[in-house]
Amino acid sequence: MTKDKALNIFRLHYGEPTHQVFAPGRANIIGEHTDYNDGFVLPFSIGQGIWFLASANGSSHLDLMAADTGEHSMIPLDGVDHELAFGWERYFVQVLKALGKPLKYGLNMVFCGNLPIGGGVSSSSAITCGFISILNHFYHLDLSGDDMLELAVTAETGTGVRGGIMDQFTIFNGKKGEAILLDCRSCSHEYVELDMKCHHFYLINTHVRHNLVQTDYNSRRGQCEVAKSLISDNYKKIEALRDLDIRDLPDLQEMLDDTLFKRVSFVVQENNRVLRAVKTLKAHDWNVLGEVLYESHDELSNMYEVSCDELDWLVEYTLDNDLFLGARMMGGGFGGCTINLTREKISSDISADIENRYYKQFGIKPEILEINSENGILNSK
Ligand code: GLA
Repeated sequence: MTKDKALNIFRLHYGEPTHQVFAPGRANIIGEHTDYNDGFVLPFSIGQGIWFLASANGSSHLDLMAADTGEHSMIPLDGVDHELAFGWERYFVQVLKALGKPLKYGLNMVFCGNLPIGGGVSSSSAITCGFISILNHFYHLDLSGDDMLELAVTAETGTGVRGGIMDQFTIFNGKKGEAILLDCRSCSHEYVELDMKCHHFYLINTHVRHNLVQTDYNSRRGQCEVAKSLISDNYKKIEALRDLDIRDLPDLQEMLDDTLFKRVSFVVQENNRVLRAVKTLKAHDWNVLGEVLYESHDELSNMYEVSCDELDWLVEYTLDNDLFLGARMMGGGFGGCTINLTREKISSDISADIENRYYKQFGIKPEILEINSENGILNSK
């Protein structure tokens, strides 16, 4: 849904909004499952996202409406004791809990978006970060960038996913035309220009979500933590898997069981790929960047084991078509989107071919979406 439709809904129910926030989704060129290992990522914020329209009310509730579905919720301001009726409510509740401050008055809010929900483009972080910005504005919280980042990460951990900081950092710090090389240990970062020329990035949404994403994601993080402890106790002291080098891998293969070795090896190689990808971007070497993306997918699928048939199929499709320079699954995995680098725009013939063949294979229609690097979170009147 577009913001204008949400504005009409807001006016119908609450009058005129006094503040608006747009929180974008995030794409990630490369660096998957590295953020919670203190490693490197290379994301950017995209033009698609979630709009929030709000005004103060005299109650002690958040009067909230999801314009896309027409669902309505009244959440008490302390966030406690609220029985969840809709999945999205938990993000608002967890932000209120993480903030843990008494708020003086309630808010009316309408939110809506055009992000593929559950597509691995951070729709959940767009909600938490957008809501935090709204709270910061209305209650003059004076939160710094770091405060907001911490709040957003704490709130999302509260929903049960032990995620890293990539999504929230990107939403708050995205810059049009740039990707962010982020060191997830120190939060130091460098903007890397995306001088795309005739190249394009596309997402292709599988429209599937397999398994309990939360459980599988947390289990990968758990395996990394077990491996880190074993390596620290038996090999060399490390703070996180990020402290390992490719040269450590032969020794670690002897030391770790097969599964843990695959996880560790993936993280080490993926960190390395992020740095290689940055070099290729700076050198405008799009062909090599594409190869790095394919390499990443291969390892996400076979070493980290977070892909699925639908994602693998979409990546394999691109291998036979020289329009595509590279492709890989993006985000946590087990469904969601692939990110694709193309040498020119995807024609309607190729879109139709992907859609038809994918439909034949899986009985689902995929969605193809062009993405560009746009600014991060935006507050306006
Ligand atoms: C999810 C998490 C991120 C990151 C990715 C995988 O999007 O929210 O923190 O771990 O998965 O790279």
